[in-house]
Amino acid sequence: MNFDRVSRFAFAAALSLGFVSLAGLTSNRAARADDTKPYVIENGRVDKHVFNGYRRYGDNCLRCHGPNATGSSYAPDLTDSLKHMTKEQVEETIINGRMDVNTANQNVMPAFGTNPDVVENLDDIYAYLKARSDGALGRGRPKQIGEDDD
Ligand code: HEC
Repeated sequence: MNFDRVSRFAFAAALSLGFVSLAGLTSNRAARADDTKPYVIENGRVDKHVFNGYRRYGDNCLRCHGPNATGSSYAPDLTDSLKHMTKEQVEETIINGRMDVNTANQNVMPAFGTNPDVVENLDDIYAYLKARSDGALGRGRPKQIGEDDD
């Protein structure tokens, strides 16, 4: 666990969020073992972090980035973006948003820095997106490890 990164992130988050509770953020992060492969997938089934990320993604991101994070005419394919963005860059973009001022259509990535449903689940959203980007997770609703077959 890299505490320097934790504190830098907490500091950046504190700057941009001001008031959002960081206790949940840091403890969630402390539970994450490996940032380069921040997910566990066994026989196509995902851990609870990835499943939670899938759900939060569906609630907050899907309407622009598409049902499987593969993008839309409005917003980029995140399975592609995650191949060349660092975790910090992804988190920074989610917290602060971004506007592409160079395009004629002015597509906007909203800032989620004051949205606890996103901020408190950043690690899990990242884990879901990374699993999709790595090709470790297919399309659609994943099954959780331990979940019954139906
Ligand atoms: C209202 C539509 C919209 C929503 C909702 C939205 N995004 Fe975006 N997002 C965009 C657009 C448009 C861009 C591209 C902005 C640009 O061109 O700079 C973008 C860019 C990004 C990027 C950078 C991609 C790259 O290749 O540079 C990431 C990462 C991202 N979004 C993640 C998310 C996540 C995670 C969520 C949900 C928490 C989310 N977005 C919700 C519209 C949206």
